[in-house]
Amino acid sequence: MRWRAEIRGILCVAMLLGAEARGQGADPGRAIFEGQLEGTRTPATAARLARLPCLSCHGRDGLGTREGRAPPIDGPALIRATPERPAYDAESLTRALATGQGAGGRALSQLMPRYALSPDEGRALFDYLGRLPAEQRRGVWPERLRIGVATRAEGYLDALRAALQARLGGTQVHGRTVELVPMAAGETDLLAIVAPPVSQVASVTAAGMPVLFPLGQLSGAEDPGLVRDFLPSAADVRHSLARHLAEAAQGPVAAWPEGERNDAFALAMKLAGREVAPRAGEETAELVVFDAADLGAAIAAAPRARLWIDWRHVPEGPLPSDRPLIVVIDAPALVEAPERALRTRHAQIAGAVLGEILKEAGRDLTRARLMTAFETAWTGDLQLDYAAVPLTGTERLLFFQAQ
Ligand code: HEC
Repeated sequence: MRWRAEIRGILCVAMLLGAEARGQGADPGRAIFEGQLEGTRTPATAARLARLPCLSCHGRDGLGTREGRAPPIDGPALIRATPERPAYDAESLTRALATGQGAGGRALSQLMPRYALSPDEGRALFDYLGRLPAEQRRGVWPERLRIGVATRAEGYLDALRAALQARLGGTQVHGRTVELVPMAAGETDLLAIVAPPVSQVASVTAAGMPVLFPLGQLSGAEDPGLVRDFLPSAADVRHSLARHLAEAAQGPVAAWPEGERNDAFALAMKLAGREVAPRAGEETAELVVFDAADLGAAIAAAPRARLWIDWRHVPEGPLPSDRPLIVVIDAPALVEAPERALRTRHAQIAGAVLGEILKEAGRDLTRARLMTAFETAWTGDLQLDYAAVPLTGTERLLFFQAQ
């Protein structure tokens, strides 16, 4: 059947690359800046930092917020004397954080939280802030910028490049030539990475490198400051499916297999205003099946139910029953395309979104500005709205009546 061949195609996109990368060496200064303080003797500071990381107010690039209430605190800003204060060093920074007394003795407002760091922690943070401008402008030069493409899938890079150039009306944005290069192992002179497997997202972002449009499904817990996609996350899929089922269900709803795995789904259903039945049985009208391996058992357990299954779990070969089956597709942007090559479609959408983001991010490009540009860039023609759904721009599902 054609629909099954198409769905298989998407599966290939999701599985193009599967190797797990090892985590990179942790940078203690970055960890503090991002809100993690481990092995410290001041648990109150660790808790405050987790709640109020520096970047939440001063920005991931340390350049301060647009509203301007939090000043720039990257290295160049700190070591520059101003009319209000002398330059900072590691000691005066550590003191300012602990006591609220800025360089030269100026009292900082209460809007700036207090953090009791050890001298070593303060030094690590100061050093990191010094490296921040270079880190934020990796892959950005006056005349060009470079973005890595992780997948080696045939045709992907060409399709991405063509779509990007169509969107930009050429090879340049804000006077810079955009270079899309196959990512070489360990290369760090890149503004961001496009299309790595989802299993590598955590290790890439741990080094401060933004990830765009990974292959596979995000969990929904990723940080939109470092990761953006155009396909819904697992968490959003659960909620969208639950909302749809709450309206469309013709009787009791159950999930299979019972137990821990469907707790998250049961919670999503509750939020949508409907209970999930504790077990599948004669009465069950709608049955959500989490795994293809369970399909036979699910069919037997609920003899009258309509079955709902994620496209990733559509079994090979004929289905074990002629029961109504609805395939839940969380990649409508790919499936609805006229193209037969779905992976090309992924590259085309990625190129189009990337073009809009690069235009929006402006001439003074940092990794942080690239990522915040998603919130204001125009992607409505692609049916994406990152202001509403920051991580992926969409929660949209497609329901495919397979039989
Ligand atoms: C809740 C928002 C918020 C958080 C979180 C925050 N800051 Fe601030 N910070 C501010 C504001 C607002 C000011 C301006 C205070 C003033 O000028 O009176 C400020 C001022 C500063 C200054 C003084 C700059 C100068 O020119 O004298 C430094 C240094 C600083 N912050 C560093 C940090 C660091 C490092 C962290 C994380 C450990 C951090 N801040 C977390 C809001 C915040």
